[in-house]
Amino acid sequence: PAPGWTAETDVVVVGSGIAGLVTALRCRPHGRVLLVTKALLDAGSTRWAQGGIAAALAPDDTPGEHLADTLTAGVGLCDEDAVRALVTEGPDAVRGLIDLGTAFDRSSGGGIALTREGGHHRRRIAHAGGDATGAEISRALLAALKDSGVEVIEHALVLDLLKDAAGRATGITLHVMGEGQPGGVGAVRARAVVLATGGLGQVFSATTNPEVSTGDGVALALRAGAAVTDLEFVQFHPTVLWLGEGATGQQPLISEAVRGEGAHLVDHAGVRFMAGRHELAELAPRDVVAKGIMNRMRETGASHMLLDGRHLGAAMWENRFPTILAACRHHGIDPVTEPVPVVPAAHYASGGVRTDLYGRTSVPRLYACGEVACTGVHGANRLASNSLLEGLVFAGRIALALSDDLAALPPAAEPSSAGPSVGGARADGLLAPSARGDIQQVMTSYVGVLRGAEGLAMAARELANMPALSGDVQPGVEAWEVTNLHTVASAIVAAARRREETRGSHWREDFPERADTSWRGHLVTRLDGDAL
Ligand code: SIN
Repeated sequence: PAPGWTAETDVVVVGSGIAGLVTALRCRPHGRVLLVTKALLDAGSTRWAQGGIAAALAPDDTPGEHLADTLTAGVGLCDEDAVRALVTEGPDAVRGLIDLGTAFDRSSGGGIALTREGGHHRRRIAHAGGDATGAEISRALLAALKDSGVEVIEHALVLDLLKDAAGRATGITLHVMGEGQPGGVGAVRARAVVLATGGLGQVFSATTNPEVSTGDGVALALRAGAAVTDLEFVQFHPTVLWLGEGATGQQPLISEAVRGEGAHLVDHAGVRFMAGRHELAELAPRDVVAKGIMNRMRETGASHMLLDGRHLGAAMWENRFPTILAACRHHGIDPVTEPVPVVPAAHYASGGVRTDLYGRTSVPRLYACGEVACTGVHGANRLASNSLLEGLVFAGRIALALSDDLAALPPAAEPSSAGPSVGGARADGLLAPSARGDIQQVMTSYVGVLRGAEGLAMAARELANMPALSGDVQPGVEAWEVTNLHTVASAIVAAARRREETRGSHWREDFPERADTSWRGHLVTRLDGDAL
């Protein structure tokens, strides 16, 4: 449908997790800012983050050591300059969050309490509310947003990028529902567009991601012709509460911090199977632990493994992990007295819309930040608790770039693009909402932790045959979302088929070794390119 209304601003930020909120707040001194978000302001992944935010804040830690751990976890595919920016600017960025009102947990001496997670050789994870770090950061940022002058539109699903004749971003189209807001499909014209739409975990049937994580930003970027990289590196969190065979939707996370505080992974015979597989055992990088669990499940024929934290004691569970304790008890498991059943589940997209060190994508005036972006800091496997930090640090960098760029940018020109569009007149290109479950099932069956050529080919075939929206049904949010899921799923499959090696979170059964001579590079996916 054609836009029924138009708004104008200087910077439009899409998304309201840590990346979107910090970008909006930091850009506000440089011009008008409109923040649009798909559901309520706190509905995204940030508020679900448990373990915390990583930064070299301890006296015995250095950005250099944080850099080394991040590079190791990324298995040769990190952009070292991006990681250096992340780890050197990280400590001050976290202090900036404290200045904004974030209450991190404190040690008995009054300093910021720090824990460990997988892949970190030091205690460097700051947390809040025990295991509710994202919720506290989100609360503080939303409080700061109130009097900031940033305009907000909630329940606004972004559809497509508008571009001018020179191919520069000039705004977005979006669909808005809700009282007191512009309704239906509209357009926002802006001098700069920042994508901070978060992740894509909902392409799988079991994920730690909330319902809203449907890859809308990556799908939009692909349609807009922006370079998207590293999509094959979807990270599976090793320890998600096992809710029985075939559980679907958002699954309760059991933070790596539980292992950081001393819990053990054991099989059903009580054997600590990670000991001896890696020098850090249960605290090896996330991909190594997820593979360890999958291998042990196969060796023993079990449907899940166990996380034994009984020895942590009731006080630790109650004070340090209140959210996880409540979630487990809600599902009939008491971690104080019994081991917790766990399996890996889709958690984080290490790849995304390719950016430079200031969030600029390959489309002029289009920026990306947070999980939707691929800044180069994660490589083939993100280091635990680097994601909130990435959103925070690179949001500041985008604001810095825009403080220069914005003044030089003329007001948004009339859009002229008529490229592929999810919200445009091509209703025949939209998928039926009922395809959502089919996409998730295909991705879970063939493109999960363990991949192989045959399964990936099957996935590509089945995705290609998904039912289109029938001509007489009006396009709506569900059809747009499921079409985005399909675009992203197809792109992940294409990248996973091409990368014929095992590296980080991309595990090919048929190519079990890392192949540095041929594969130490990035796959760029474009809608019109050969990867799709
Ligand atoms: C966790 O708490 O285990 C999640 C941390 C992360 O994904 O970085």
